[in-house]
Amino acid sequence: MPASVESRPVMLRPTLLGLAVAATLGASAAAQAGEVEVLHWWTSGGEAQAASVLRDLVEAEGHAWQDFAVAGGGGETAMTVLKSRAMSGNPPSAAQIKGPEIQEWGGLGLLGELDEVAETEAWDGLLPPRVAEIMRHDGHYVAVPVNVHRVNWLWGNPEVLAAAGVEMPESFDELFAAAEAIRAAGHVPLAHGGQPWQDATLFETVVLAEGGEDFYRRALVELDPEALGSDTMIQALTTFKRLRELMDEGMPGRDWNVATAMVIHGVAAMQLMGDWAKGEFTAAGLSAGEEYLCAPAPGTDSAFTFNIDSLAMFRVTEAADLAAQHDLARLVLEPTFQETFNLAKGSIPARTDLDMSAFDACAQASMADFQAAADNGGLVPSMAHGMAVRADVQGALFDIVTNYFNSSDMSAEQAAQRLVRAAQATY
Ligand code: GAL
Repeated sequence: MPASVESRPVMLRPTLLGLAVAATLGASAAAQAGEVEVLHWWTSGGEAQAASVLRDLVEAEGHAWQDFAVAGGGGETAMTVLKSRAMSGNPPSAAQIKGPEIQEWGGLGLLGELDEVAETEAWDGLLPPRVAEIMRHDGHYVAVPVNVHRVNWLWGNPEVLAAAGVEMPESFDELFAAAEAIRAAGHVPLAHGGQPWQDATLFETVVLAEGGEDFYRRALVELDPEALGSDTMIQALTTFKRLRELMDEGMPGRDWNVATAMVIHGVAAMQLMGDWAKGEFTAAGLSAGEEYLCAPAPGTDSAFTFNIDSLAMFRVTEAADLAAQHDLARLVLEPTFQETFNLAKGSIPARTDLDMSAFDACAQASMADFQAAADNGGLVPSMAHGMAVRADVQGALFDIVTNYFNSSDMSAEQAAQRLVRAAQATY
């Protein structure tokens, strides 16, 4: 179901931030001024606004912020750049690193510990245990979560849907039926960007819809060959490939936010994408539930595919830079940042104790669904966004998914067999 009609003033952001900055200015003089260099890939309109919230807060503490933004949705390019910086012995002090990759970097001995900050700020009590666990390596905090993104969302343009006489679909059958009417009304049914990570985002959502949470876990988290080669997987691959017929010819290589803009401007009716897309609707000044619609991706309303953005900290040597790094980590979990950043980013706060009244209807639904899914077993980690498997395994799955999606002669059965072989080769 579309979210109920509700709009929130975008003006809230600068006002809240202004207050926070004013409040921290006094403290800054006493602090030891250092520098933090922060690697991220938040370069779209909504994302850049969100990132600037952290920059403002860090600078208000008297520290220098060195922005290390590497464009490219999903962060693949950013991770390549990070590896080369780390190999030359010069990593940034903080980097957006997620899920199992935090363990990989921790295992290399390159991450600094945040236990002191975590203890003073009582992170253990603030973070859901599932989230806290991802942030620790070897029992020590080495990263701090900025948010929780939900991946299994469907976004819609209400005017386009109304012109076609259809509603937000609740199943893939409904989606395919609606698509015919949308095409007939002269619009693209589904906005998409043909990049491996976007294809994988779509794929994992279809797997969740076709197989449910347990199947998703077996196939895309545990890489169980039986699940990967099953009829359910073949069905999911078939449905996934059919979605291609709902897209336009300009799809290959398109950035995700350009696809979102197609929905914003009424060129396309819908997009299946994580809620960073909401950041784009917000940045365009549109109100949730009125000027754009959100709903769980068809067939997945009891599940929540999570994608937690986090900043991992690399070891630094200068005392002032260490102070800056610790201030950065502290600020990230403070209510001001959690609220202001996530209003712009489209995600929900990583801590569950915050008042959600400033958030729009989609974010409020996301928070409620996150908690419900945590209670009923519906929480699943996103494979496409680095939460489920190691980076090398993720890369192998991306290749198969994208090749299959774009090939005219690979069958669903062949693709499933490739998935099975990839799983057997990597574990
Ligand atoms: C995700 C990331 C989000 C958003 C998105 C598009 O992997 O977690 O924060 O940036 O990619 O780039």
